Amino acid sequence: MSQIIVQFLQNLNSDKFKNHNIPNTFMKNIVVFTGAGISAESGLGTFRDSNGLWEKYKIEDVATPEAFQNNPSLVMDFYNIRRKELFNSNPNKAHISLVKLQEKYSLHIITQNVDDLHERSGAKNILHLHGKLNESKSTIDGKIYPIQGPYLNIGDLCEKGGQLRPNIVWFGEDVPNMEIAINLVKKAHIFIIIGTSLNVYPAASLIDYAVNSQRIILIDKSPTFLDGIEVIREKATQAVPKLVDDLLNL
Ligand code: APR
Repeated sequence: MSQIIVQFLQNLNSDKFKNHNIPNTFMKNIVVFTGAGISAESGLGTFRDSNGLWEKYKIEDVATPEAFQNNPSLVMDFYNIRRKELFNSNPNKAHISLVKLQEKYSLHIITQNVDDLHERSGAKNILHLHGKLNESKSTIDGKIYPIQGPYLNIGDLCEKGGQLRPNIVWFGEDVPNMEIAINLVKKAHIFIIIGTSLNVYPAASLIDYAVNSQRIILIDKSPTFLDGIEVIREKATQAVPKLVDDLLNL
């Protein structure tokens, strides 16, 4: 390996580079990890904030396989209400500004959100960890079906005659996309976390895999402070556009 490259790699690991002025040509991969907070200003409720969804509903009544077993109508109603809200909401400045990063970086968005606001903002590489509100799943073979309109009801069946359920990862269920997410985060040069309380696992453990990230940045209006992380205590629609501009001007 030529001396120049060796010298450069040594520099890359030296403190000199562990600040913000790293030439961006070497930082190709940006991975953004989002939670409900990024969609809050689009009018979609978060879960654990005051007046959040888990203050109005019990998780064991609406977000577990057992809840669907015991009272499928209640579960369907919960997601139908949220799907209807989603129909009446749009991506906000935080969703939209993130997309600009694609001009200069390889951008991957890993989201805990079940809304489609990242998709509607024009982002290309989106991985949902907890499912999608506008999809249903067969209770027989797990096949996924798009939901036309805001409502999924008891009696809506898959092609094999099985009841369709919301394609949501409920508490106690596996998170099928976790492995892909971990591999993406391992390759990140910058890892940006937006609007999540980092309460729910395994999703919240993604931060532990950002081992090659030169910068880990958390944007949240009331953040969880963690060592070695840049914390921006601001609303997403204020902080994300500014950060994106900074990264584009690096
Ligand atoms: N801008 C930035 N951050 C915000 C904003 C905002 N406008 N509004 C709220 N927040 C922050 C809150 O401070 C909080 O830290 O967003 C976070 C929302 O946290 P939660 O409600 O716990 O949502 P999230 O972390 O996405 O939940 C994870 O839990 O209930 C399950 O499956 C569900 O995917 C969800 C998972």
